[in-house]
Amino acid sequence: MSGERHRLIPAGRPAAAVIADVHADCFADPWSADSVAALFAVPGTLAWLAVDPDGRPDATLMVRVLAGQADILTLAVRPGARRQGLAVRLLGAAEWAVSPAGPVEIFLEVAESNAAAIALYRAAGFAESGRRRNYYTQAGTPIDALVMCKTAAGQARSIHKR
Ligand SMILES: CC(C)(COP(=O)(O)OP(=O)(O)OC[C@H]1O[C@@H](n2cnc3c(N)ncnc32)[C@H](O)[C@@H]1OP(=O)(O)O)[C@@H](O)C(=O)NCCC(=O)NCCS
Repeated sequence: MSGERHRLIPAGRPAAAVIADVHADCFADPWSADSVAALFAVPGTLAWLAVDPDGRPDATLMVRVLAGQADILTLAVRPGARRQGLAVRLLGAAEWAVSPAGPVEIFLEVAESNAAAIALYRAAGFAESGRRRNYYTQAGTPIDALVMCKTAAGQARSIHKR
């Protein structure tokens, strides 16, 4: 089944509970709806949902643009909707949205144990740019985060290239 049947829709604070529900399906330490809503209170926070033809939200991405730099806050695809290209599509939407006036660096942190996500980010053009020691804890064990980075080309350049 292809993720092409999903629509990507922009999401804001009213969708906080829906985003939290997708997040809870994907992470051992889920965010509450209130904590997602609090993220939207910070200017520059953008999000999308990937919704199937029946209206079911299967994936989400949140990104924040601050001081000319973008940070992926979360990316989550429900287990039943994985390997259909939804994460790549969400990353593409974020790259486009954060770079209206030219190239923007996008950063993210990923647990060094998260092989699926690291493979995804490499496939999407991100490269390792650093490491944060003991950034996460998994079952009581500290885990390093890899910092990964990609330069979003910028909408102006993308339009020019068409
Ligand atoms: C990581 C995650 C977001 C990937 O979402 P996805 O929609 O399945 O990813 P895509 O279908 O867009 O995958 C694109 C490419 O990434 C790589 N990839 C994705 N998942 C992979 C896996 N489990 N193993 C190896 N490579 C993988 C592949 O290169 C894949 O291309 P292919 O399917 O043609 O081989 C999803 O597994 C997830 O939500 N995991 C739990 C939450 C999480 O870890 N989020 C990231 C936190 S930083």
